[in-house]
Amino acid sequence: MKDIVQQILREAFEELDRANSDIKAIDKVRVKYLGRKGRLTELFKQLGGLPKEKRPEIGKVLNEAREQLEKALGDAIARAKTASLEVSGDFDITIPGRRPLVGRLHPITQTARDICQIFVQMGFEVVEGPEVELDYYNFEALNIPKDHPARDMQDTFYVSEEVVLRTHTSPIQVRVMEARKPPIQIIAPGKAYRCDSDMTHTPMFHQVEGLMVGKDVSFADLKGVLTLFVHQMFGPHVGVRFRPSFFPFTEPSAEVDIQCVICGGKGCRVCSYTGWLEILGSGMVDPAVFEMVGYDPEQVTGFAFGMGIERIAMLRWGIDDLRLFFDNDVRFLDQFF
Ligand code: FA5
Ligand code: MG
Repeated sequence: MKDIVQQILREAFEELDRANSDIKAIDKVRVKYLGRKGRLTELFKQLGGLPKEKRPEIGKVLNEAREQLEKALGDAIARAKTASLEVSGDFDITIPGRRPLVGRLHPITQTARDICQIFVQMGFEVVEGPEVELDYYNFEALNIPKDHPARDMQDTFYVSEEVVLRTHTSPIQVRVMEARKPPIQIIAPGKAYRCDSDMTHTPMFHQVEGLMVGKDVSFADLKGVLTLFVHQMFGPHVGVRFRPSFFPFTEPSAEVDIQCVICGGKGCRVCSYTGWLEILGSGMVDPAVFEMVGYDPEQVTGFAFGMGIERIAMLRWGIDDLRLFFDNDVRFLDQFF
């Protein structure tokens, strides 16, 4: 019986070979061997007439033969189909593939990463802090007591008496100094919230905070680091100026302006015809802040800065309405890569 099965299988494979890529011929082979009256099928029918102890062995041989033939038939049909498409020209292999929709990083994310990258190259470490923040870290530890008029500089969303949505990334300065000893050299990107809304202000926006504390860190270091940053971000020929300002947590304080990248400093609507654009606030860390975190202001000095990421992104791409970043219109977002 085994020999008969092998013989039948050999013949079936030979016929399949001859059928080549002819689908009808292949199907004839299938019917001849595996059809209702097929040669293998007939052998299955004879199984019942065999002595009981022979049946399992022969059954196994038959099953294996059927599986082999079924697989060979399947392969032959697949091959034949491909071949017929190629010959008939139904399948044009020169048609370009359909391009998949590829997502990209949001322009604010891209800008945040590029800003961080520049500072990382200067040796800064990236850290983060909570968006829902204690009043203490957002204000008090930054030398802004409860009834201080400087609280009016930032319209605050209060969660409760003692908890706020952070109005800037500066509380991260305090958290890092509380947890570590100098020297410190960090930047901290993240969201900030203020009750604000117009062409250049949104209720949620992003900042990157910077802090460098150590022995003899000077205002010259602040100027050097921030000038280098501007030149890396906007190009080596863009003018930078430091303008005296005030923040309760820095003394002295300076705001940094860059030459308007829209008009090249000639004066236009975006820069209110001044030729300059503010990009960040900065200053030397106030001794009162050092005292709040247990540092000795006689021993260490430092500088800090905070910049608006949306502001940098607007200047980079010449966008005149900040709110576009948050409409999530793909026609707008698709332009940044
Ligand atoms: C501050 O927030 C200070 N914490 C910056 C600082 C840090 C000073 C460390 C000294 C030392 P200011 O309120 O100016 O400063 O905000 C900084 C930047 O955040 C602004 O220049 C602006 O680019 C951006 N910004 C402020 N409010 C909004 C808003 N509602 N929408 C978008 N960007 C905003
Ligand atoms: Mg400001």
